[in-house]
Amino acid sequence: MKILVTGGAGFIGSNFIFYMLDQHPDYDIVCLDALTYAGNLETLEHVMDNDNFKFIKGDIRDRDFIFDLFKKENFDMVVNFAAESHVDRSIKDPGVFLETNILGTQVLMAACREYGIKRFHQVSTDEVYGDLPLDKPDLMFTEETSITTSSPYSASKASADLLVEAYHRTFNLPVTISRCSNNYGPYQFPEKLIPLMISKALAEEELPVYGKGENVRDWLYVKDHCEAIDLILHKGQQGEVYNIGGHNERSNLEVVKTILNELDKPESLITFVEDRAGHDLRYAIDPTKISEELDWEPTILFDQGIKKTIKWYLDNEEWWQNILSGEYQDYYQKMYGDKQGDKR
Ligand SMILES: NC(=O)c1ccc[n+]([C@@H]2O[C@H](COP(=O)([O-])OP(=O)(O)OC[C@H]3O[C@@H](n4cnc5c(N)ncnc54)[C@H](O)[C@@H]3O)[C@@H](O)[C@H]2O)c1
Repeated sequence: MKILVTGGAGFIGSNFIFYMLDQHPDYDIVCLDALTYAGNLETLEHVMDNDNFKFIKGDIRDRDFIFDLFKKENFDMVVNFAAESHVDRSIKDPGVFLETNILGTQVLMAACREYGIKRFHQVSTDEVYGDLPLDKPDLMFTEETSITTSSPYSASKASADLLVEAYHRTFNLPVTISRCSNNYGPYQFPEKLIPLMISKALAEEELPVYGKGENVRDWLYVKDHCEAIDLILHKGQQGEVYNIGGHNERSNLEVVKTILNELDKPESLITFVEDRAGHDLRYAIDPTKISEELDWEPTILFDQGIKKTIKWYLDNEEWWQNILSGEYQDYYQKMYGDKQGDKR
């Protein structure tokens, strides 16, 4: 089995590569990543020499390059993590979100059609369902919840999902889609809430919290997400959408206070800042379908997972300090020069 993992130098994609190499040592894994600001090749350093792993620098928007790659590599499956993923950036500069998240997905599916594939899996997000009110805790997103987006990021992911479903219906492409809640864990870029707050708390800098910190997210430890995608690839039904979430709802303020508490830092570091435009109030996933059909259950509760995550950031300070200093962007250049293409 040869699997193309796009966006594998980012947070979830890299964790998925480690998971798959560990669970399926007989599979070949090819990582394709454009190494945008969010991609960090240092993350993949310890698997770079594996015989069954290959890194390729390239852009999913580049049709000629993608078609050449598919022709050469003969993939069995594609798991598409490649995306612009930060909501705040999508508010400042939406264009690239549409190009990568929508058009890039279309280029990959066109190549899948041309060269044949057993499965194209689209890694989507619960943000395509919009948000839920804070005062109705029983309401949750199911796979039947209508698509209602709030930010250019979620609109681009929702558009890609619709396109994936259209490729299934019109061209019979064997697709699956997963919509997951907020992930946390090792190797998350320090612009996202949890690593940002850990790094600020350690530096005893102000911790900026949007609005009153009331917005609620459903947190899932990244390894549980990887396991769910592995199950969907092997046992999921073509054409189906699977919600993935762990019933671990926390307000942003609770998350930040937990981090401060774990690091023994004062809550006076919290600074409330002007709310994000269009800020979604609450996300909550109902994972009944994947639990009943594929027997998936989250294994790590938030209270354990956040401790593991904080420990990882404490033990791997060089990794995130290199990002904060910008040094990580020189790594590829230093190792491989300026070429697109195969790297082992
Ligand atoms: N982080 C979350 O909490 C979360 C939750 C649900 C779903 N998702 C989805 O999971 C996927 C991965 O998210 P993440 O948090 O790991 O993102 P990330 O920003 O950490 O990683 C994205 C990766 O994609 C690469 N990339 C960007 N544009 C590319 C292009 N045009 N061609 C090739 N590679 C490109 C980047 O270099 C980076 O390595 C995304 O599709 C996101 O929508 C994320």
